[in-house]
Amino acid sequence: MGDSIDLAVIGGTGVYAFPGLEDPLRHEIRTRWGAPSSAIATGKVLGKRVAFLARHGEGHTIAPHRINYRANLAALHELGVRRVVGVNAVGGIRDDMGPRVLAIPDQLIDYTTVRASSFCDADGEPVLHAEFGEPYSAGLRRGLLDAAHRAGVAVVDGGCYGATQGPRLETRAEIGRLRRDGCDLVGMTGMPEAVLARELDIDYACIAVVANWAAGCGPDPDAPISLDEIHAHLAAAAGQVPALVRALLAD
Ligand code: HPA
Repeated sequence: MGDSIDLAVIGGTGVYAFPGLEDPLRHEIRTRWGAPSSAIATGKVLGKRVAFLARHGEGHTIAPHRINYRANLAALHELGVRRVVGVNAVGGIRDDMGPRVLAIPDQLIDYTTVRASSFCDADGEPVLHAEFGEPYSAGLRRGLLDAAHRAGVAVVDGGCYGATQGPRLETRAEIGRLRRDGCDLVGMTGMPEAVLARELDIDYACIAVVANWAAGCGPDPDAPISLDEIHAHLAAAAGQVPALVRALLAD
C-alpha cells in the first residue's frame, strides 16, 4: 500500500471530510480487528499525500463507545500512515477553554471503562507496556502550534484532556472531580485512540475543538448544555481546522 502518506486526519464531530483533497481515492480496508468507522479517503494536499477517516462514520452513526478504535488505527497503519492528527470535540472546563476555542492538549487522563484499549489482546503474544508519560507526540504538537501561528489560527498550547465513556454528558459532580484531577477539557473520543497510535509507533496529536462549557462550568454554571449550541459552536470552530492542517502540511 506504500509508505508515503505524510499525514492522516481522524475527523470528529463536525469534521467529516478533508476539503480540497486532490486525486481522491477511497480505501475499504478490513483489519484483523474488524472494519474501520468508514472508508479511508486518500489524496493530495499541497503536493503531500494525506489520508482522512471520519471517526463516527460518514453519516455520524457510531457513538463514541462503539467506535472500533483498533480497526481505525490499524487500517491507517496498513496504509502506511505514521503521523495522525485527531480532531476531537470537547467540553471546556478551564476558564480560558470556552466554546469555539481550539486547544492542543499535552496531557490526558483516561476515565473510559469498557473499550478495547490495546492491540495486546491475545494470550501467547508478546505483552507490550507502551511508554505513555507524554501521551501526545511532542514533535507533532510543536508542528501544530507553529502551523497555527503561521496560519493566524488562535490555539491554546497545552491542557489536560479527560476522556469519559459517554455517550451521555457528565454530571456537574463528575466535572468537579475532573477539574480537581487537573483536567482542562473533557471529551469522549480521545482514548483509546492516543494509546493505540502509540502502540503502533504512530506520531499522534490532538486538536481539541471546544463545543460547549462542560457541566457546571462557564459563566452560567446552572444552564443545561444545549445540543443546538454544541452544533453551532462546532460548526464555527471546526471551520478553522482545515487552515491549520494545511499550514502543517506546508511546512
Ligand atoms: N463532555 C464530553 N464530551 C464532549 C462534551 C462534553 O461536555 N462536549 C463535546 N464533547
